[in-house]
Amino acid sequence: MGESLLTQPFVRRNGELHCGDIPAAELAERFGTPLYVYDIRRIAERVGAFHTAFAGVDHLLAYSVKANGNLSILRRLHAMGCGADITSLGELYRARQAGIPGRMIVFAGVGKTVPEIEAALEYGIYAFNVESRGELERIDEVATRLGRRAPFAIRVNPDVFAATPHEYTRTGTASTKFGVPWDETGDLYLWAKDRPWLVAAGIDMHIGSQIVDATPYVRALECVLDLVTELSAAGVDLKFLNIGGGYGIRYDHDPGMDVDELAAELVPRVKSAGLRLILEPGRSIVGDAGVLLTRVEYVKRSGRKHFVVVDGGMSELIRPSHYGGFHAVAHTMPSQGATTRVDIVGPICETGDFLARDRELPLPEQGDLLAVCTVGAYGFAMASNYNGRLRPAETMVDGNEATLIRQRETLPDLVRGEE
Ligand SMILES: Cc1ncc(COP(=O)(O)O)c(C=O)c1O
Repeated sequence: MGESLLTQPFVRRNGELHCGDIPAAELAERFGTPLYVYDIRRIAERVGAFHTAFAGVDHLLAYSVKANGNLSILRRLHAMGCGADITSLGELYRARQAGIPGRMIVFAGVGKTVPEIEAALEYGIYAFNVESRGELERIDEVATRLGRRAPFAIRVNPDVFAATPHEYTRTGTASTKFGVPWDETGDLYLWAKDRPWLVAAGIDMHIGSQIVDATPYVRALECVLDLVTELSAAGVDLKFLNIGGGYGIRYDHDPGMDVDELAAELVPRVKSAGLRLILEPGRSIVGDAGVLLTRVEYVKRSGRKHFVVVDGGMSELIRPSHYGGFHAVAHTMPSQGATTRVDIVGPICETGDFLARDRELPLPEQGDLLAVCTVGAYGFAMASNYNGRLRPAETMVDGNEATLIRQRETLPDLVRGEE
C-alpha cells in the first residue's frame, strides 16, 4: 500500500525512491530524520496550473501561508507571482520577511487583535477578510486612530454544505464559527458606508478544505454574486470576490479537484460580474510536493498486529490523529518481502500517535527508511514540541540540488525563553 499513490516528483529509479533527482536515502543520510522534503519544481507546476486555469480573469493567488509558511517556500512562491493569505501577526511577519508586498496580502481569521490590525494597516495590506461585526468595528477604530484607510471584504458564511473528509475542515455552514451570517452581511456593508476610513473593497468566502467537487463553490458563488448585485444597487460597489481556498488533492485513491474544471465554472461568472478574483489555495499548491522521511526504530508485535515504531510521530505530522488524515507510506528502498498488515506509529506517549493504520506493506525492519507521502501542507506547519520533541529539519529539492531550508531544532531551542 502506498506504491500506487506515489506522486510526481517522488518516483522510483532502480527501485529506489527519489525526491527530484536525489535518492531519498541520500537526503536522510545528509540531513538526518525525521525530515521534510519539498520539491520546488512540483510547487511551481501547481502554481502554473492555477495561473493558466484562471488566466481569463484578473486574479491574485493569495497562497495560504498556514499550509506551509517556510520562508524559502514563500520567497519562491512570491517569485512565481503569488501573494499571501495570512491569519496572524506571525504570518504577516513571515510574508514580509519573504518580500511579499502589502498589496498582495489578505488577512483572514476570526480573532484579529488590535496589534495585528495595526501592523496590517501599517503594512498596507490588500484587504481584511472580516469575520464579525465586532471585528469590523475594531478595524474602524484602529484605522480612524491611525488615519489609514482599511480595505475590507466581509467573509460571508454562505451556509453551503461542502463534503470534506472531516467535520473539522467544514467552514461554510451556519454551525461553524466562520464568517458573517448571510442575512447580516448587507447591513454591515451599509453601516461601513458611512465610516470614512473603511473601504468596502470586496466580498469573501471559504467553504472548507479538501473539497474535490466544483459544485459547492458554484452554489456559494452564485449566492454571493446575487448579494454583490444587491449591494451595488444600494451604492456599495465591490471590486473583488475572494473565493477562498480548500481545493482538494489526491491523498488516497480519490482524485483531487480538477483546477481547469473549477476555473471553467468560476471564471465566466466572476468575469461577467466585472470583479477581480482572489483565490487562497494552500494544500493544492504545496501538499503533494512534500514527503516526510522517517526511520524505523523498532518493529514489535502485539496480539495479531505489527507495530512499526518510527522516529517521526504526531509531533511531526498530526493530520492522521487530528483529522483522520490519510497519508500513503512507502519503503524508500526496493522491498520484496511478503506484505503484511501494519500500523506505523510514532514514539509519543499517546495511543493516538500514529501515522498510518492497517496498511499492507512488506514488513519493515529496524533501520529502514520510510516515506510518508503528501505532507507538504499542514505537515511541518502543525508540528509541535510535545513530549520534548525537536521539530524536524526541512529541505527543498530542485532537480539534483537539495538545500536545508530549516534547521532541525536543538535542545537549547526547546527551552528558549524559559526561566
Ligand atoms: C480562510 C481560508 N482560506 C484558505 C485556506 C486554505 O485552505 P487549503 O489549504 O485547503 O487550500 C484556509 C484553510 O483553512 C482558510 O481557512
